[in-house]
Amino acid sequence: MAPVAQRPRGTQDILPAEQLYWQEMTGAGDAIATARGYQRIDTPIFEATALFVRSAGETSDVVTKEMYTFPDRGGRSMTLRPEGTAPVVRAYFDAGLDRERQPVRLYYIGPFFRYDRPQAGRHRQFHQFGVEVIGDAAPSLDVEVIALGWRWFASLKLSGVSLQVNSIGDGACRPRYRDALRDYYRPYLDALSEQDRSRFERNPLRLLDSKDPDAVALQASAPRTLDFLCDACRQAFEQVERGLQQGGIPYVVNPRLVRGLDYYTRTAFEFWHESLLGAQNSLGGGGRYDGLAADLGYRDTPGVGFALGLDRTATILKAADIGPAIYAVAVDESASRLMQELAEELRRRGLAVIVDVSSGRLDAKLGRASKMHARLALLVGLQEDARDHVTLRDLRLKKQESIPRDRLLSRVLEMLAAAPAVSA
Ligand code: HAM
Repeated sequence: MAPVAQRPRGTQDILPAEQLYWQEMTGAGDAIATARGYQRIDTPIFEATALFVRSAGETSDVVTKEMYTFPDRGGRSMTLRPEGTAPVVRAYFDAGLDRERQPVRLYYIGPFFRYDRPQAGRHRQFHQFGVEVIGDAAPSLDVEVIALGWRWFASLKLSGVSLQVNSIGDGACRPRYRDALRDYYRPYLDALSEQDRSRFERNPLRLLDSKDPDAVALQASAPRTLDFLCDACRQAFEQVERGLQQGGIPYVVNPRLVRGLDYYTRTAFEFWHESLLGAQNSLGGGGRYDGLAADLGYRDTPGVGFALGLDRTATILKAADIGPAIYAVAVDESASRLMQELAEELRRRGLAVIVDVSSGRLDAKLGRASKMHARLALLVGLQEDARDHVTLRDLRLKKQESIPRDRLLSRVLEMLAAAPAVSA
């Protein structure tokens, strides 16, 4: 009999072999956010549909095409959350966090849902690590949030990430920019796709994000948001740039960066990765959303935040072969105590070590080590003089050498440096 069901399109099973990356990502999220005074918040997986329609914007793809919306048995329209910012802002007011000391720093990790066409890097259920700082409009908080995201990528030792920043203005200056964009695109309207013509009418900023070849050709000479900022927005953007420079965070000003959700004001940013081409190059993004609370019917309250995509990041971690640095195996049982000691020694130096205490054949254990993308195997008890010598095996080059125990750490560091998991 054929199985009655298959995994729904656009979803994935996160299998045991991949859990290592997920633990690394969520562990880094918890640690880095907590160390900076961010507190965890979990909101429901579904919310009243109006929350997302009013926040993400009636013209955004997320709302017009991608929501999992269904009537519940009571006839109310519910939607699986496509993003986390609107729910967090709702919860902030529901719980009276607006009456606490401001700003309130929050973070979340969990699944989100968008009914998109599944493809590499694009899923119908995906996962984010996000932060939101609500209740203060200071540009230094934009910098704090961006720095937190940057730190997260750094702690995963992910290279090839670039930070793209822009300011898309606010209610005071954006209307003028929108007009300028329409003036620019108007003569080319006939050449644009139907979707882009509708963007022209409803939200011309989205034309800068179009992937349609005709629209892409026009993007290079389109008016730039930064040339239209009002004084307040320009000063805020200058402060953000200064803060990033002082924090030593490299960034690229990208005047064509616009975001897919409509609630942003002023700072908009994305983290891109060199290996992700085209539409799905964004590992994460965010920005300021000073108008969102009022759009949702609450007291006018500023906020800034980001969400980083865990599924895309996991793919890159996996491709970069970043597993544990060392897989330690005791060749016979008598060596297992010594192996534990050595593993502890290496861990104290910040290296990730997995110890395999299972019984079984050595080559099976080495196979497991490779599957986990470990870089080196530490074999203890292979030689007679186990107390003095251990064996280090480079799992990719499949070469091994015997080294004196007191040289273990320095040799491990040398071997890891010679074959870096990712380029520096
Ligand atoms: P977003 O740019 O829509 O922003 O999503 C952030 C990240 O989530 C993306 O860069 C991507 O890595 C990941 N992501 C989004 N959709 C998918 C998908 N279908 N499949 C896989 N990964 C996906 C937001 O969601 C805002 N709430 C961020 C924010 C927080 N802004 C302010 N605060």
